[in-house]
Parts: sequence; C-alpha cells; structure tokens
Amino acid sequence: MAASYQIIDHVYDAVVVGAGGSGLRAAMGIAEAGLKTACITKVFPTRSHTVAAQGGIAASLGNMGPDHWTWHMYDTVKGSDWLGDQDAIEYLCREAPAAVYELEHFGVPFSRTEAGRIYQRPFGGMMQNMGAGPPAQRTCAAADRTGHAMLHALYQQSLKYSTDFYIEYFAIDLIMVDGECRGVIAINMDDGSIHRFRSHKTVLATGGYGRCYFSATSAHTSTGDGGGMAIRAGIPMQDMEFVQFHPTGIYGVGVLITEGARGEGGYLTNSQGERFMERYAPSAKDLASRDVVSRSMAMEIREGRGVGKDGDHIFLNLNHIDPAVLHERLPGISETAKVFAAVDVTREPIPVVPTVHYNMGGIPTNYHGEVVTLKDGNPDTVVSGLFAVGEAACVSVHGANRLGSNSLIDLVVFGRATAHRIGATLKAGTPHQPASKAADDFALGRLDGFRNASGPASTAEVRLAMQKTMQSNAAVFRTTEILEEGVGKIDAVSTRMAEIGIQDRSLVFNTDLIETLELDNMMPQAVLTMHMAHARHESRGAHMHEDFPNRDDANFMKHSLGWNRDGKVELAQRPVHEYTLTDEIEYIKPKARVY
Ligand code: FUM
Repeated sequence: MAASYQIIDHVYDAVVVGAGGSGLRAAMGIAEAGLKTACITKVFPTRSHTVAAQGGIAASLGNMGPDHWTWHMYDTVKGSDWLGDQDAIEYLCREAPAAVYELEHFGVPFSRTEAGRIYQRPFGGMMQNMGAGPPAQRTCAAADRTGHAMLHALYQQSLKYSTDFYIEYFAIDLIMVDGECRGVIAINMDDGSIHRFRSHKTVLATGGYGRCYFSATSAHTSTGDGGGMAIRAGIPMQDMEFVQFHPTGIYGVGVLITEGARGEGGYLTNSQGERFMERYAPSAKDLASRDVVSRSMAMEIREGRGVGKDGDHIFLNLNHIDPAVLHERLPGISETAKVFAAVDVTREPIPVVPTVHYNMGGIPTNYHGEVVTLKDGNPDTVVSGLFAVGEAACVSVHGANRLGSNSLIDLVVFGRATAHRIGATLKAGTPHQPASKAADDFALGRLDGFRNASGPASTAEVRLAMQKTMQSNAAVFRTTEILEEGVGKIDAVSTRMAEIGIQDRSLVFNTDLIETLELDNMMPQAVLTMHMAHARHESRGAHMHEDFPNRDDANFMKHSLGWNRDGKVELAQRPVHEYTLTDEIEYIKPKARVY
C-alpha cells in the first residue's frame, strides 16, 4: 500500500512537532546549540494555541511584594494535590525567574510597574510564606495577551537561529524501530506530498486534547496529535483523568475569560447576588485554585442558585473596577466579552460557566523532557530519541490540578530543558540509521485506510458522539454510575471509527481526511481518560468522585498509566516522585488542602 506514495526525505539532527510556546522554545534552543533542526506544524506558528493564553506566566520575581521560588514550589505541590513529582516541580519553580527574564530579553513586551519592572498580578492558589499567605503577586503579564506576545517573540528567535519550518504539515506517525524513535512521517496539507523526517531526537510539542470535549476553551486544533502518535507507538499515557475546567469560560460559547480578571479584583456571584466563594474558600475566595472554584460554581448551579433563565451559569463581575484599569490590564477580555456575550464589562457582569481548559495528563516524561515508559518494572525507562513538552507532556508538575499561569512557565522551562538535554547528548551531523519500511508502511497504511474509508458515518458525527460522551460522563462531578456508563459509551463510540466514510479521496487540502486523522488521535485519549477516571477511587484535584469524596494517599497517591492497544485498555500505576532535586528544599509532605 505504502509503495504507491512517493516519499520526500529530509535529514535532521532533531525535529520538533508543534510550534506553540514549548515547541518554539525547544526548536530555538536546539538550533542555538548548533544542531540542524526542523519544526513541523499543522498551523502557522503564531496561530498555535499558546496565542490564546491570556493572564500570564508564573515566576517568583518578587516585583510586587516578597516572593521566593520555594513558595512557588509549595503552592504548585499543594495545587497538584500532591500528585506532582517534586523533583520536576523544584526544577520548574527554581528555573522560572531566569526563563521569564530570558523572554524579556527576547522582546516580550511585558506590562510594567511604575518603577519599570515586569508587572505581576495575583492568580489562584499563589501565596507567600509556604502557603501561609498573604497572596503572592507572581503572574507576569503582558496585559491579557501574554501568550500572544510570547509566541511572536519565540517565533522570531527560532528564525534567528535558522530553524527550518515546515508549515501546514501534519505529522501522521512516529518512525519507531526496536523501541527507538527515528523521526516522523508527515503530509504537506497544501499539496498532499508525503515527507519522511529522519532525526536522532524527535520532540512532541503538539498541545492538549481539549477538543475531545464538546465545550472547551481550547482551539479546534487541540486534538492531541502527539498523544495519538505515542499511543500507537505503544507508549502509555499518564494521569489522563485529570482534566481542568477553567471557572470562567463564556457561557454557551466556551471562550476564555482570564483568571487575571479575578486577579485584578473581579468576583463571582450567584442568582442571589451572593459572593459565594467566601463560603467555599474563606481565605482565598475567588482566587482559590481552579478545581475548587469550578466545583463551587457547579454546586451553586446544582443547588438552584445559578443565574439566567435556566439557572445554569454564574456571573463574573468586573463593573466595579476602574474602567482605566480594565482598559490597561484587561483590554482583550473586555473586547471578547463584547463580541461573544454582548456585555459591556464596565456596566454588566459576564455570564460564565466552568469550561474544559487543560489536560494535566499526557505523555510521561522526566524533567529533561525525555519520554519515559514502564519497562521491566522500571517506570522511568527512557524511550530513546523521543521527547515531549508542554501540554502534550506530563512531567508531572501539575499533578491533579494545575495552577493558573503555571502552564506558560512549564512551556518555556521544559522547552529549554529539552533543548539543553538534546544539545548535551547529540553531536551535529551524527550519521543516521537506515529508514524503516515497516514504519513507512504503518503510517501510510493508516493514511490510506482513512482515505479510502467508505462507511456510513461522517467524521463530524463520530466526533460529536465522542465529545458529548466526554462532556456528560467525565465532567466536574463524577460518580461510579456515571463513569461506568461513560466507559461503555466511549468504548462503543470508539468502535465507530471503523464506520467512517469520507467523500474526498484526494491528498491535496483534504480537510475531511485531516479531521479524520485528528479524530483518530483524540479517540484513544478520550477512551483512556474515561477508563482512568473510572479506576481512580478517590477525589483529588480536578477528579471529584462523589462516591469516594476523600483523597486516599495510601492507595492513590500514584500516577495512572494507561495503554490503548487497538481499543484494548490496560492500566497500571507509577510512583509519584516523593523527593526533591536538591537538598535546598525538603520533600513537602501531604496534608489537607484548604484555601
Ligand atoms: O486564565 C488564564 O489566563 C489562563 C491561564 C492559564 O491557564 O494558565
């Protein structure tokens, strides 16, 4: 089958798949190290989903009050509900200030204090003094367009170091030979040509799989393509049951209103005009961590205190904030609220509802970005030649719940760490092993299978069935009954991939074919999310299981691992790293998590 395709070969030291914040930071750093580097991306780099990140990037610069990286670490461990690996969290928080100053030098136009320093706003769960408080202003912001500013600066830097970009190329599958990654097979969506990228190091920076759900703040391109490729390569996924619902997606639309809006003084109210977060999180209130705020909103709605004619959402109030502050600090969301909710934020509240926003789970890696798997009893076995960064990866620094503004810092810190690792372990121009016909046949056979699919169902129909199942059976609140039903439903939906038929047999700009490949990447991750949620009999972070309402450290302070081999799910556990990286900070022991 694959023989019918003419393959165009490219030979690189390293290839990065994805051009969001983590992919660009990795690509730039690898190229800077003198290695021949390609970046393959299905969208133009500055359209990658990082562009949508609003509120900011966390680092303990201490520009707006006292701060320290150990306080950031404490908050991140607590935010993760003790599921994060503390060696990786130490690395993240310790490296964060240098990574932000580096962005400043790359040209990111951060907002400024009167004294000309980088402006920092409060975000949820960020405190001074090892959690004791008061709140820390730790989130460095470029108004409410921080991701946009970062992405443009990083793209320019990547070009400066001569990264070769392959734009609007869709990666189909990894080239795996004897458990080692030797590159990737891709299609140029514009002209349908097939490309084989041979590389010693391949970095998956493909983002999350938020579009498995019906309503998400994620771009429609967030289809977890790296996760799909990793699963097909026999690599397990980690902690997929932890899906973050952002408290403030615009009701009915899903578009993000930044947590920075609450950082600047905004607050939530119910149908009685009550600031209900005071009841759920008496100390942090509206700036408790996201899982806590989203659950509290869902409780208010469930108990009949939601707003609107169906009582199914909540109000976010900003109209008490000085319009000059809104104009200076939150111009983007002021416009978004007008366009998507017909709301003038200086006068009226914004209708909001918890909306799928981020996947804490992903491809397991260590803090160097190397993909790890469970082999011969060792859960930290490195998969040779393969790296993952950003939302595609699970390092794990976010554990069961990510703190707002820790994702942008994750992108650059681990993008940089990956570049350092590759730079330190690879000599430019190292000769390549022969290409693999079996790997070509696997990727192109799959492509052909979908291209010639003639079943009765459309891709859109099957995708909608998956999204509706995830939305109703793997939501903010979960029960055994709902998850059992969800497992049955999602397993059944996944078999419908075989029923798909597409109209267009062409390889050239065939959106139906590409959407089918994307769905084939999302589907096994949707299945794993549901199965892993079903298997976790406790409540931790974003996983709120009403039949097991408490955290169970004895049995479940463990990462979940899951394989999906041709629809057959296998689950295992992996120990959480209960150690730090250096002896400058001790392991932070689990305790009750209150805000
Ligand atoms: O609310 C926000 O601005 C989102 C930030 C984040 O997810 O880190």
